[in-house]
Amino acid sequence: MVAASINKVQRQSGGTAAALEAREITRSLPLGKERIDILHGINFRIERGEFVALIGPSGSGKSTVLGIIAGLDSPTDGRVLVDGVDITAMSEAQLATIRNQKIGMIFQAFNLIPTLTAQENVEVPLYVGKHEGSPADRAREVLELVGLGHRLDHRPNQLSGGEQQRVAIARALATNPAIVIADEPTGNLDAKNSANVLNLIRELRERTGTTFIIATHDPSVAAAAERVIRLYDGRVVGDGTPEEVGISEAAAAEKAAAGMVVSRGS
Ligand SMILES: Nc1ncnc2c1ncn2[C@@H]1O[C@H](COP(=O)(O)OP(=O)(O)OP(=O)(O)O)[C@@H](O)[C@H]1O
Ligand SMILES: [Mg+2]
Repeated sequence: MVAASINKVQRQSGGTAAALEAREITRSLPLGKERIDILHGINFRIERGEFVALIGPSGSGKSTVLGIIAGLDSPTDGRVLVDGVDITAMSEAQLATIRNQKIGMIFQAFNLIPTLTAQENVEVPLYVGKHEGSPADRAREVLELVGLGHRLDHRPNQLSGGEQQRVAIARALATNPAIVIADEPTGNLDAKNSANVLNLIRELRERTGTTFIIATHDPSVAAAAERVIRLYDGRVVGDGTPEEVGISEAAAAEKAAAGMVVSRGS
């Protein structure tokens, strides 16, 4: 039903819907007797296949924006369109389907299920909703894609932090989502593992054409993105290439040198 409505909207818009569109998103929360405004009218349009970094100081609203565009939280006002479909108007059941079919999430703390093996963790989203083929085969395939074909039966506590994040990336990609949304995916990793995860994301994005939207404090992640959206105090204050938004190449290079070489790519 959701797929049918997506096709309908794409036909109506000539099939050129953005992967993701945020229109005038606001978010306010009650604080005692008052309300505080966290987001003040966020606008952006992200095309298919773009690699976008969302940056800004702590408290500027990055995680709030990601939660809203992933359909985990509702805006106070404004609209979010995924593939041209307004998700802000959806029921919880419809949203769950959209999240499962279209969106992969990666978190700072990996959020793997500790009692399941790497392979079983990646299979979980494939047992929810309809997906082609066997979950076990697909899980093995994506784990191989992230370089963990030899760790299928390891539980999270038998994996390094970098390996756990690669399992989480495999899980996010398992359903072949249009968009992967990551909240500080390198925040819990050392420089070397951060660089590995960043290289993996860039490689996966080139190979799969998946749209990546990544909130980060890590200048090497922001410098590797093709587009950077900068938030300040719940507003978009910059949107352009890393150079245009003032990402320091020097800081990124310093960070990369501490781990392994991260080339800027073409
Ligand atoms: N449930 C909540 N209740 C009250 N205030 C909240 C709530 N969630 C977030 N905030 C406030 O909203 C603002 C934005 O928070 P958000 O987590 O989106 O920031 P962030 O940019 O992700 O920060 P960080 O870089 O530290 O992760 C902050 O000032 C935060 O204190
Ligand atoms: Mg955050």
